[in-house]
Amino acid sequence: MTPIYSRITGTGSALPERILTNADLEKLVETSDEWIRTRTGIRQRHVAAEGETTGDLATLAAQRALEAAGVKASEIDLIVLGTTTPDIIFPSTACLVQHRLGANGCAAFDVNAACSGFMYALGVADKFIKSGQSKKVLVIGAETLTRMVDWTERETCVLFGDGAGAVVLEASGEPGIYATCLHADGGHKELLYNPVGVSAGFTDEPNHGVRIRMAGREVFKVAVKTLDSLVDETLQAAGMQESDIDWLIPHQANLRIIEATAKRLKMSMDRVVVTVDKHANTSSGSVPLALDFAVRSGKVQRGQNLLLEAFGGGFTWASALLRY
Ligand code: COA
Repeated sequence: MTPIYSRITGTGSALPERILTNADLEKLVETSDEWIRTRTGIRQRHVAAEGETTGDLATLAAQRALEAAGVKASEIDLIVLGTTTPDIIFPSTACLVQHRLGANGCAAFDVNAACSGFMYALGVADKFIKSGQSKKVLVIGAETLTRMVDWTERETCVLFGDGAGAVVLEASGEPGIYATCLHADGGHKELLYNPVGVSAGFTDEPNHGVRIRMAGREVFKVAVKTLDSLVDETLQAAGMQESDIDWLIPHQANLRIIEATAKRLKMSMDRVVVTVDKHANTSSGSVPLALDFAVRSGKVQRGQNLLLEAFGGGFTWASALLRY
C-alpha cells in the first residue's frame, strides 16, 4: 500500500496594522533600541488594535492559505488551531474561525502548547491525515500575546508581538511531512507562565493578574540545550542528516537562540528564515508566519527540505521535518 503523506499546499499569514518599534518602547520603559537588538535581534513588533482578536488574525491567515492552496473552506475536514490567547474561554477559537470561514461541520479544536502551539497542531494534523481520517486540514497558529504583556515590565514587554500564520495540509502519495516530534516537561512551569485562570482564579493585580512571568536567562539556557537534542532526534526520525536540510524555520523568540540551533546544524545563517526582527515573539504564530514570509518572498521553493521547530512554556518543544 502506498504510504499517505501530508503535504503543505498553501500558506498564509496576518499581522495587525499597528507597529511598535524599539524607539516607541524607550518611551514606555527604561530600555534602549541597542539593548533590545543586541540581546534579542528584535527591532519592532505588531500589536493588535482594541477589539482585534486572535480569531480575526487566524481567519485572515487561513483565508490566505486556502487561496494559495486553491482549496474551498467547505472542502476542509479538520481545523487545528494552536493558541494560548483564545478569543473567549469557549467555544474554541478554532470553532469561531470555522464558522467565519464557512467550514461548518468539520472537526475543529484548539491546542494550547504555548509557543509550540503551531508545531503541536501540525503534528496532530499530520497524524489525522496519515491515519486516513482527514484529507484537507487547516493548521493555524495565532496569538494576541500583547494582551498579557505588562507594559511596565521591561524584562518581558520588549519580547512579544501579535500575529497569525496558517497552512493547508493535504493527503498525498508524495512527501510531505517525514517526521514530527512533540515533547513536554511540566516540571519547568515556574520559569515561563501565566498563573491565573478560570479554575485557579484571578487576582486583584492590574489586568486581573493576567501577565507573563519569565525567568529569561534560565529559559534561554534550557531552550538552547533542548533544541540541540530536538534537532538530532528529528533528523534521526526522518532518516536524514544536517546536509539534507535546505531551510531552518525556527520559532522566532530570540536571534541568539536561533543562531545556536543553526550552528548545531552546521548551517550558515543565509539558510535560516529570520523574522524575529520584524515580528518579535508571536508564540504559536511565529513558525507559520516565518514560513509564509519565506514562501511568498521566493526563498523557500517546492521540493526543498524544511526543518521547523519551536520551544515554549510548559516547557513544550516540537519539530517537523518536511519536503515543501
Ligand atoms: N532593557 C534594558 N535592560 C534590561 C531589559 C530591557 N528591556 N531587560 C532586562 N534588562 C537588564 C536586566 O535588569 C539585567 O540588569 P542587571 O545586570 O543590572 O541585573 C541586564 O539587563 C541583563 O539581564 P539578563 O537577564 O542577564 O539578560 P540576558 O542576556 O539573559 O537577556 C533575555 C535577557 C530575556 C533577552 C534573554 O534571557 C532571553 O531571550 N531569554 C529567553 C526568553 C524567551 O525566548 N522566552 C520565550 C521562550 S518561548
